[in-house]
Amino acid sequence: MDSYLRSSLFFFIGALILAISLHSATAAYPTVPGAGSGESSLAGVEDVLIPPRREVHGNGRIFDISHKYVPEMPVFESNDGLGHFLLLQQSMKNGSLANLQMKIPTHTGTHVDAPGHAFDHYFHAGFDVDSLDLEVLNGPALLVDVPRDTNITAEVMKSLNIPRGVRRVLFRTLNTDRRLMFQKEFDSSYVGFTVDGAKWLAENTDIKLIGVDYFSFGASSDSVPCHLALLEDRERIVVEALKLDDVPAGVYSLHCLPLRLVGADGSPTRCVLMK
Ligand SMILES: *[C@@H]1O[C@H](CO)[C@@H](O)[C@H](O)[C@H]1NC(C)=O
Ligand SMILES: *[C@@H]1O[C@H](CO)[C@@H](O)[C@H](O)[C@H]1NC(C)=O
Repeated sequence: MDSYLRSSLFFFIGALILAISLHSATAAYPTVPGAGSGESSLAGVEDVLIPPRREVHGNGRIFDISHKYVPEMPVFESNDGLGHFLLLQQSMKNGSLANLQMKIPTHTGTHVDAPGHAFDHYFHAGFDVDSLDLEVLNGPALLVDVPRDTNITAEVMKSLNIPRGVRRVLFRTLNTDRRLMFQKEFDSSYVGFTVDGAKWLAENTDIKLIGVDYFSFGASSDSVPCHLALLEDRERIVVEALKLDDVPAGVYSLHCLPLRLVGADGSPTRCVLMK
């Protein structure tokens, strides 16, 4: 057999095996009613299924400011990243209707803190993420750029000139430029509030929702006193690890919907900004 013939034969056998395995895979998965049979979608090679992935939806009107959950995303104070968090619980190839379960820390990725986070007496009293006010988490919000050479001090807060009456502010910092949320290793040199910055916010603004672009709103050296300054009166909600890349600064309608995890001190949340 000459080599051309032989390789054609191998190609043919390969294509046959592929077709058989594709066919059996299709047959094992329940098809979506009305979407046509698996047979016809296999007929043309051009019908490769590609799921859409977007950062911006609705003709540039809706910005997704939540991070994707992926095994290599960073986790607070860890060098290992999240790791595999989707686990095969059942198998559709095996006749089940679903495949996966997930297992993640409650403060993974874009998430909200409950008042019961950092305050043990609130945790015991039941101030979990299910007790958070959706009115605070949804409404007009300001996205501002923090000067890149500093943490968020009282002086910086003053210089941002956030008008009284503004109730939701997302602070974009050097963390976004450094793409810290896209690096597997946790970086404790992230930018956040200093204690005097947090106190200034509490005393001189009407801000009830504080959004930041890394894991903690308090800079690492000031984390505990920042929690005390902003969260102890349970009037404010913090949304952490927002994805603020490529969104123009300005006024938007913010929508954050954490899960109703009863008993949890944090929850992953989808957040979007709408024009
Ligand atoms: C497939 O089904 C069998 C029989 O019910 C079960 O023992 C097996 O664990 C299943 N495998 C998976 C991956 O779900
Ligand atoms: C912010 O504070 C942290 C310590 O909490 C420090 O490592 C970092 O360098 C500071 N960043 C800037 C830009 O000043």
